[in-house]
Amino acid sequence: MTYVRNAWYVAAWAQDLEPDRPMAISILNEPIVLWSAEDRLVAFEDRCLHRLAPLSLGRCEGARLRCMYHGLLFDADGAVVQIPGQDMIPPQARLRSYPVELRHSWVWIWMGDPARADPALIPPAVGFDNPDYILGRGFLDYAAEARLINDNLLDFSHLSYVHAESFGAGPEFADERPRLTPLERGVRFERWVVGTHGPGRRKSDALIDSWQTYDFLLPGILLMWSGSFVAGTAERCGFAQPDYAEAIGAVTFTSQAVTPTGDRTARYFFSWGPHRDHGDEAIRDMLMTLADRAFAEDKVMIEAQQRVIDRTPSPRIMPTVHDRGVTLFNRLVERLARAEAGEAEAA
Ligand code: FES
Ligand SMILES: [Fe+2]
Repeated sequence: MTYVRNAWYVAAWAQDLEPDRPMAISILNEPIVLWSAEDRLVAFEDRCLHRLAPLSLGRCEGARLRCMYHGLLFDADGAVVQIPGQDMIPPQARLRSYPVELRHSWVWIWMGDPARADPALIPPAVGFDNPDYILGRGFLDYAAEARLINDNLLDFSHLSYVHAESFGAGPEFADERPRLTPLERGVRFERWVVGTHGPGRRKSDALIDSWQTYDFLLPGILLMWSGSFVAGTAERCGFAQPDYAEAIGAVTFTSQAVTPTGDRTARYFFSWGPHRDHGDEAIRDMLMTLADRAFAEDKVMIEAQQRVIDRTPSPRIMPTVHDRGVTLFNRLVERLARAEAGEAEAA
């Protein structure tokens, strides 16, 4: 499958890092070990230079990492600094390391050319350090390729069907099309659902207009804001973005990140929670319970879809009008991946 390499991939929730314990992760089929060299976060290939044992089974020794097979010791730049029983250390021996950043409560790893690793390209997610939101978090491992999860997040018409019982979006949700805007590194979706009592279990007594917008950004990051407004707001603001200060409830934020771990495996990270003015920890917990249920529904469908695709000799699709966002995003990925391949060939 085609993925862009010059992008920041989510490797882990920052809260899941343990100070003295190396963490094994996999991105684009590359085994990576993440560890804290005292105050500095480091990502190496998870493969000892000696006999390829995983360094994620190693031991942190301050700002150094020791392979616990035969004891080679590496510094935070990947250089070998000790070989037990041997004085001569090959000066060129060095582990491959990846640019890594801690931002918005996520650990991000740049999988492409390290010289191009610009932290300004990290998607502007809302992390747990943002006092305006009360968030919960989690992740799910998929036996399916990441692209299928991206495609799912780029077409919310599935809410009416996959999530009919959980999110409770009625069939009218899939009858409406969101407004799409291509972005330099993704696609923006904006959608008003006008004059309903709100979705599923979060029904309001009065009629409301519901606003939802999300950016889906490279390599597979969804950042979404939603809110409820008095009926008539959508029309009054020309079906454009409302002023969140006028929201009457349910202002929430969710971030979701899809990381290809292998050819047919992916890790799906997510957060969700209310704005502090529109909810509390109890609302956050209710939303997370809902998310656990709904995201399990996606997983069942997407893993089953993957199994069918794998048994299909020449899989072909028949796009519908709702695939416009999927197509825009996948074309962007293909264009950038082609450019990367061209540069690699020219080099
Ligand atoms: S494999 Fe790491 S020291 Fe031997
Ligand atoms: Fe879904």
